[in-house]
Amino acid sequence: MDVVQLSLCSLFFVALLLACGRPFLDKLYATVFHGRQNVDYFRISGVPPPNPLPDFDVDKAKARPYRPFRWTYHQTMSLKKMEPDYWLELESTYRERVAQRKDLYRKHGKKIIDALPGSELACRELMDMVIQFLCVRYPNQFQFSGPILYNRILNTQSNVDQENPLEVLNNNVPEDFLLTLPDPKTGLYTMVAGVCCSSLGWNVATKIGKPLKEIHSVVPDYKDKMEFSMDRYFSKMPTDKPIQRGSWGLEVGQPLWLQDDDPHFALRTTQDPNLKIEDIYLRVDWQTLRRLPQSKSIVFNFKALFTPFSSFRNESHIPHLVLKVLTEGKKNLMEYKGTWHIEHKVVPVLKEWCKEQEGKGWVPENWEVRTLDEDPYFPGWND
Ligand code: HEM
Repeated sequence: MDVVQLSLCSLFFVALLLACGRPFLDKLYATVFHGRQNVDYFRISGVPPPNPLPDFDVDKAKARPYRPFRWTYHQTMSLKKMEPDYWLELESTYRERVAQRKDLYRKHGKKIIDALPGSELACRELMDMVIQFLCVRYPNQFQFSGPILYNRILNTQSNVDQENPLEVLNNNVPEDFLLTLPDPKTGLYTMVAGVCCSSLGWNVATKIGKPLKEIHSVVPDYKDKMEFSMDRYFSKMPTDKPIQRGSWGLEVGQPLWLQDDDPHFALRTTQDPNLKIEDIYLRVDWQTLRRLPQSKSIVFNFKALFTPFSSFRNESHIPHLVLKVLTEGKKNLMEYKGTWHIEHKVVPVLKEWCKEQEGKGWVPENWEVRTLDEDPYFPGWND
């Protein structure tokens, strides 16, 4: 099929999407967008397909404003059901991020992408599932005509029979994926492969081959509060109940991939008196955990999203919550997050914004700070 025929095919398909109802679409998923193995992953995983976005424009798309701030703040798994439309969310940083990811891989090789023997099936299955998701959710932007994946945003093609599945992912979707399988000797879920560009202070090479408890050895309270429930959760997790959670930090600038020897890390050890509020960003890593139906691998995927800290001023209740966590949060959790280097600037400003929001009647005076009912968002975020 040449390029013209393929474009006509895609146009036809988009027209069908617009014109037809759900049952027809379901049939279409099964016939048009199967992976190379003729597998309909939506059906066999029990996770329904996402709703297509035929008018999607990646350059204008904004990610939902995740604000996973909790009070009282304990170390827990804090899991939420995954919304099938949002397994992978593309937005306006797409082009820049994919270019950055390719560059990181070129420079750092196995610290960004690696896979152990025995993980081949899981990596291929993951790639096929991601391709199915992208083609259904973003039908104008991605088409698959085996073995070629057409990326209409970047005008690139990937031959999925010839390329490393994790590289295909890195070249097409700005999302990190860490794959785990039970170790045949211990039964413990162990990281067997990964493609990861958004890591601060660690990388694929420092975690691959390790079980969950070693991966999380630096996470405060992990051993006492999480290890037992995590191992149990992993052994029982079904394919049709993916979950999501969020992790956050406050950063100077927008560091995506930082290693301990990077000069940027030194910023965390000082409170710069000249630091400007407009240089501070919220970094949220929005994460999904799901089991793949064929290989049974459990995959952890996540994406770093940056928002200027100054946005909090107009986000009802958020300054109160962040102020509470920064000033009264458990010391070991806050030290791990590394927020000390920006606190001298953000705490006074947050106090001002709290008063301002109370003055406007957005938040009652003496509001007893607690996790919002809208978590991980905030009241009025849709507007
Ligand atoms: C239910 C599943 C999981 C939970 C609840 C969880 C929880 C956590 C928590 C609480 C942290 C500290 C940062 C934060 O506040 O988020 C963390 C860090 C991390 N997690 Fe997980 N995690 C899960 C699954 C996984 C899996 C499957 C992997 C890898 C295969 C993984 C890899 C990591 C890594 C690499 C870090 C950074 C550790 C470091 O700073 O060196 N996590 N996780």
